[in-house]
Amino acid sequence: MKIVVYEARQDERTELDCQSRELGVELTVTSEVPTLENAGLAEGCLGISILGQGRIDAALLDAWRAMGVEYLSTRTVGYDHIDLAHAKAVGIRVCNASYAPNGVADFTVMLLLMCLRHYKQAMWRGQVNDFSLQGLQGREMKDLTVGIIGTGKIGTQVIRNLSGFGCRIIAFDKYENPAVKQLVTYVDFETLLAQADVISLHMPLLDSNRHIIDREAIAKMKDGVVILNCSRGELADIEALVEGIESEKIGALGMDTCEGDEGIIHEDHRTDILPNRNWFYLHQFRNVIMTQHMAFYTDAAVTSMVRCGIRGIWEMAHGERCETELNK
Ligand code: COI
Repeated sequence: MKIVVYEARQDERTELDCQSRELGVELTVTSEVPTLENAGLAEGCLGISILGQGRIDAALLDAWRAMGVEYLSTRTVGYDHIDLAHAKAVGIRVCNASYAPNGVADFTVMLLLMCLRHYKQAMWRGQVNDFSLQGLQGREMKDLTVGIIGTGKIGTQVIRNLSGFGCRIIAFDKYENPAVKQLVTYVDFETLLAQADVISLHMPLLDSNRHIIDREAIAKMKDGVVILNCSRGELADIEALVEGIESEKIGALGMDTCEGDEGIIHEDHRTDILPNRNWFYLHQFRNVIMTQHMAFYTDAAVTSMVRCGIRGIWEMAHGERCETELNK
């Protein structure tokens, strides 16, 4: 069985080789992001494995299907980059990856603490031997209410991580999770916006929650609110974030994902001229920390992502149960 592995990074190679040996599958490995132009790499392959940078739309799926592709895996948890309905319509079975929520949850707490203690500014100063304190006074977790939007696996782990800090934790989700009920108070969306000093987003991106954080939502928040996003950039309207920072309604942003980061993240752009104006405008503020969609990036998660990516295709092709299959 042949599989093309797109968007492969060097650090995935060891586990890719391991899966290839264990399952007896032949892998064509490329760092390219899948597009119609390079779709031909899939000629003669039954499966395709991708990460999250490409837009897997109807045209690309049709092209792959015409070449005989039957299975697609994304080595990511999120799958908002794939037209799942079209994949199903043309008979391509799709699976995603699963990995422990701890890496993203730990990173979220790191961003939260960095925001509260003005650490971006402190780090900048340190680089020029400025060790002054002025403007760096922070706030303590025990005095704050943290609002978690989305209490799935990652939101739950963030709540567990935070439970040692002494903050009050409130949460909003359409479905309450019994696993965290002793640690949080569930409230409705409006109450969370009104009461939280810190708001952290932990949802998959859906049509129903795109820009859930918009001008209107920000207006209902506390002055000086800290907003964290380690989920998907498009959950928050970047124009509204820019206005919130400019007006100082928002006290700080900790964003591992931010609308407008397409074509920026996971690449070295030191000598490039980039068009993502809002993204770079936001990026330059002392109280805005933007990282390169790296919250997931740990040794354990990468191993699991690659394993799911190759094994998932193998399982679907061999009539075995694939736990991460999506469009059944
Ligand atoms: C995911 O697994 O969904 C992620 O966000 C990480 C990925 C884009 C590499």
